[in-house]
Amino acid sequence: MALLKKKEIKLPHSLAGFDDNNDIISNLTEFINTQQLYRSAIREVQTKLEILADEFNVHYDYNPIHHIETRLKSPESILEKLQRKQFELSIESVRHKLTDVAGIRVICNYIEDVYLIADLLTKQDDIELLRRSDYIKKPKENGYRSLHLIVTVPVFLSERTEIVPVEVQIRTIAMDFWASLEHKLKYKSVEDASYDNEVYDELKNCADIIADIDERMHKLYQKIYNMRDNESNQQLS
Ligand code: GTP
Ligand code: MG
Repeated sequence: MALLKKKEIKLPHSLAGFDDNNDIISNLTEFINTQQLYRSAIREVQTKLEILADEFNVHYDYNPIHHIETRLKSPESILEKLQRKQFELSIESVRHKLTDVAGIRVICNYIEDVYLIADLLTKQDDIELLRRSDYIKKPKENGYRSLHLIVTVPVFLSERTEIVPVEVQIRTIAMDFWASLEHKLKYKSVEDASYDNEVYDELKNCADIIADIDERMHKLYQKIYNMRDNESNQQLS
């Protein structure tokens, strides 16, 4: 370690000689370090989830997780959010005010799996739950449904340990289907100003229908799995 020299950022020649070069370099270095920290936090939580999924596959021949998506908030979105919330535009502010720089989305098969994954993750010793927003029990007005957790995870670096927040969104395939399309439609229609009450109501209506289908699929799942369990219990007795 002592022999290793820390990598330094070199600015292009065109910027040489400016008074605030040291500021630029230290801000960039801090930004790069911060990004690395959040990337590591994502990997830690993702690994925890993958280990749970593996265990379920091996022991129960069933996987509550359909798939996992991860994203690091882009510099543009970070700046937009800091401005919108009227926070100072600084790395300090990102570290202390934003909890969704590291994001993980867990797509589950059934509603029951969403709560199972949330419980299994939050009861792990090194995970601390900062906030839990249950938009399944209490959907947003527009029909959005999902379980949101803000958790922290320790990231062990060579010289220190950092506690890093990660936003975990857990939802079913059906909830994800609606949220993904609604997100794209919202962006598209805001661009060309076609998002009106009619679009809003129709999207809300679709969300309600999808929620109903989610419940019905969940009931089917419970019925089939209960039947399967009963059969195997009878075979054992
Ligand atoms: P932000 O400032 O937008 O991060 O909101 P917040 O901190 O109050 O958190 P909230 O739980 O409302 O939303 C966080 C994230 O959930 C968003 O960045 C989206 O990814 C997702 N989300 C929340 N509401 C909606 C919605 O109406 N539609 C879709 N598609 N996604 C949503
Ligand atoms: Mg957000």
